[in-house]
Amino acid sequence: MRNETSVVPQVFFLYGINMSYPVLRPRPFAPTDGNASGATPTPKRLRWAIVGTGNISASHIRAIEQMPEIEIVAGCDIKPERLMWFRQQPGCQNAAIYGDYREMLRKEKLDAVAVCTPNDSHAKITIDALKAGCHVIVEKPMAMNPAECEKMIDAAKTAKRLLAVGFQIRYTPAVQMCARAQKQGLLGDILFAKVHALRRRGIPNWGVFGQKELQGGGPMIDIGVHWIESAHFAMGEPKPVAATGRIWTYLGDKPSQVVSKWPNWDYKTYTVEDLAVGQVRFDNGAVMQIESSFCAHIEKDRMAWELLGTKGGFSTDSETLYLDQAGTMLNAHAAFLPGHASPVDFIAKLRNFTDAIRLGTPLCAPGEEGLAVQKIIDGIYRSAALGGKEVQI
Ligand SMILES: NC(=O)c1ccc[n+]([C@@H]2O[C@H](COP(=O)([O-])OP(=O)(O)OC[C@H]3O[C@@H](n4cnc5c(N)ncnc54)[C@H](O)[C@@H]3O)[C@@H](O)[C@H]2O)c1
Repeated sequence: MRNETSVVPQVFFLYGINMSYPVLRPRPFAPTDGNASGATPTPKRLRWAIVGTGNISASHIRAIEQMPEIEIVAGCDIKPERLMWFRQQPGCQNAAIYGDYREMLRKEKLDAVAVCTPNDSHAKITIDALKAGCHVIVEKPMAMNPAECEKMIDAAKTAKRLLAVGFQIRYTPAVQMCARAQKQGLLGDILFAKVHALRRRGIPNWGVFGQKELQGGGPMIDIGVHWIESAHFAMGEPKPVAATGRIWTYLGDKPSQVVSKWPNWDYKTYTVEDLAVGQVRFDNGAVMQIESSFCAHIEKDRMAWELLGTKGGFSTDSETLYLDQAGTMLNAHAAFLPGHASPVDFIAKLRNFTDAIRLGTPLCAPGEEGLAVQKIIDGIYRSAALGGKEVQI
């Protein structure tokens, strides 16, 4: 995918999403899982709340501005200044504000909750919201570890409510193009996925991204997760069975020495890795190789993946299918792909969720897919803790 920058709040180009396209309202073409929650469709305007009105909530609010099916009725944050900010955002002026999400769940009659807090509270808030009768979309990564994800999935089943994970890269047109080609057999059997989520110098200088006990890890769980999930989706979601990995910290735990886009991160509380590499084996024999870093010594940021199959390949960089057809090696570009600027990607992920609630259509990124991705990341971290020994997933 193209990597362009423009003058926008930092959150909107975190993941290499091109900002220069007009805002469109795409719908995902191919949901991967049934809406098996047993929830009754509710074709009405949804009463919506955001828990955690920090950085990423801005992307949610910007997308919801263009989604008449959602009414933001409440926001919750433990920081009063974030609630003040929230009340000034479009569509939020009349929303109720809370410092405690449990009080919010008791007092508001909510249809859905978006969980946008640091990773350590995803499971608790999600489960409480499900128990209170809300559908939940939880930001990525789904939780701190697979055990938490399993509890969240169980809670959704018990409550007969929908649980979606806030993965948005899978909705981008190039990923959808690749997934369509894969599904129709154009790539043959996918043998290998090469995934990159590498920043040259992009250690987050807000939030708690450097604190392992609150985030579960560093770049692998924070940015690697996006490119793992979208590659895994395009591969047809094979089952991960084993992983190896290594992680290193060499820069984030020290004061910044060079000029960079996000200087002055909190090096004193930094306990996560700077660089993680891993390899995952799937039950169909395919292999995924992942490199993820907040501070890699490379020419420039690289957020991308490539798939190599027996009949064809695909690269998100070039948005091109590599095929053998009619005795020729073809590089097949789309003559047209819709734009994929943020908040189009956020609209797509929120709309898939709202359509599932309101119309009973399938969820594209249900909790089960969040769990599969979490197992991959967890396997890499577990292997790294054992010095790179292969672990079973
Ligand atoms: N989808 C994406 O592209 C994307 C991008 C960035 C962040 N994220 C995810 O969103 C989450 C938040 O990231 P961020 O960048 O917004 O961080 P942030 O620190 O800017 O915001 C988190 C907010 O949650 C609040 N909070 C913490 N505990 C709370 C609680 N118990 N109840 C209510 N509020 C609470 C904090 O006060 C803070 O305002 C993380 O899980 C992150 O991985 C997703």
